[in-house]
Amino acid sequence: MKLALHERALACPRCGELLEIGLVRVEGEPEQVKRRWLERRLSSDPRDRSGVWRFREFLPAGYELEETITLGEGNVPLIAGNKSAAWAGVRDLWFKHLGWNPTGCFKDLGMTVGITEAKHVGAKAVGCASTGNTAASLAAYAARAGMECRVYLPAGQVSHNKLAQALDFGARVVQIPGSFDDALDTLLRNSDGELYFLNSINPFRIEGQKTAMIEMLEQFGWRVPDYLVCPGGNLGNSSAFGKAFEELRQFGFIEKAPRMVIVQASGANPLARMWRENGQVLRPVERPETVATAIRIGNPRSWKKALHALQFTNGMAIDVTDEEIGEAKEIIGRDGIGCEPASATTLAGIRKLVRAGQMEPDARIAAVLTGHALKDTDYIIKRFQKRAESGQQTERSSSAVEMHAH
Ligand code: F0G
Repeated sequence: MKLALHERALACPRCGELLEIGLVRVEGEPEQVKRRWLERRLSSDPRDRSGVWRFREFLPAGYELEETITLGEGNVPLIAGNKSAAWAGVRDLWFKHLGWNPTGCFKDLGMTVGITEAKHVGAKAVGCASTGNTAASLAAYAARAGMECRVYLPAGQVSHNKLAQALDFGARVVQIPGSFDDALDTLLRNSDGELYFLNSINPFRIEGQKTAMIEMLEQFGWRVPDYLVCPGGNLGNSSAFGKAFEELRQFGFIEKAPRMVIVQASGANPLARMWRENGQVLRPVERPETVATAIRIGNPRSWKKALHALQFTNGMAIDVTDEEIGEAKEIIGRDGIGCEPASATTLAGIRKLVRAGQMEPDARIAAVLTGHALKDTDYIIKRFQKRAESGQQTERSSSAVEMHAH
């Protein structure tokens, strides 16, 4: 069933499935459009300065310049991970660091489009359920747009840094007992029609998040890497990346997509489990548990879209343990890059696949880091304190041990 682009609907009125925005045509030949994208980097139009709106040929159209809400998101580098590559046993590893966005997370890429659409349809108040990052991002963009913002968070399960951001940007915080899945259910149940809903099931957010892959491919000089590795939580981001590759191929911008690898935490792994068991229907994890609180999600809403992305790209879904996440995160820190725990699933996943002979050591691999190291400082301090207390003074931890002793 087709709806008009700006209709305010959360799901298909007929079958209840998530909505998806269809890209009907792209203005210009691929080489011409790629050149136009580069030329826009010299422009001072706020849309050209944004690493999302610069690629607006692949975004929903029809917004005036004045209603485009942007914080100059995107424009984040692709950085070689040298120590990380050696640790994982690969030779050609690149990090696309989406944590270096305005609020420290990839959510900003989708939020600039989502909030612009909310403004376009006249919304006065916006809301989301969140493990923390969506809340921080929504709060910032809502503040820019002059909208009221309400965020539903799983009580006691959100990092202080993310909670602090949401408060700083003036959001009303509602703490819900239970997990992210409970917070999302509560929000959906209590939504009164006035609140414009901005979780990643909102298809406008998915459109914005697609541009991360366009920017990355431009940085690779349009040479497509062999693998694209990303963390999986509610699975909106992996759906967005899959959609980007599909559309880029459909319109002749690339010839093939990279193989997508979605990595979940083993305590919150419904997609990885389904993939391993060759299942067709996702069974939610009842009580998701992981140190990577950003992806502590048992019932991901976008699983069908993510599964489609895996099938389209000949990809795979895997999971890694909390300890593997912790080790990988430390190594990414030693590369001078840093990230939050959820993002480190990528490097942990790469090492696991190489060891299992499922990823070639000389493949070109792009890993998406989704959140900034400062997003969860409690995690870092606690990990090093615990090590210091247990007396395991490895060379790598010595600086933290000193800090603890002072
Ligand atoms: N990495 C980080 C840092 C995240 O915050 C999230 C999701 C993901 C990965 C997974 O992305 O859900 O699209 O599969 N965080 C959401 C939030 C759920 O509320 O901030 P996904």
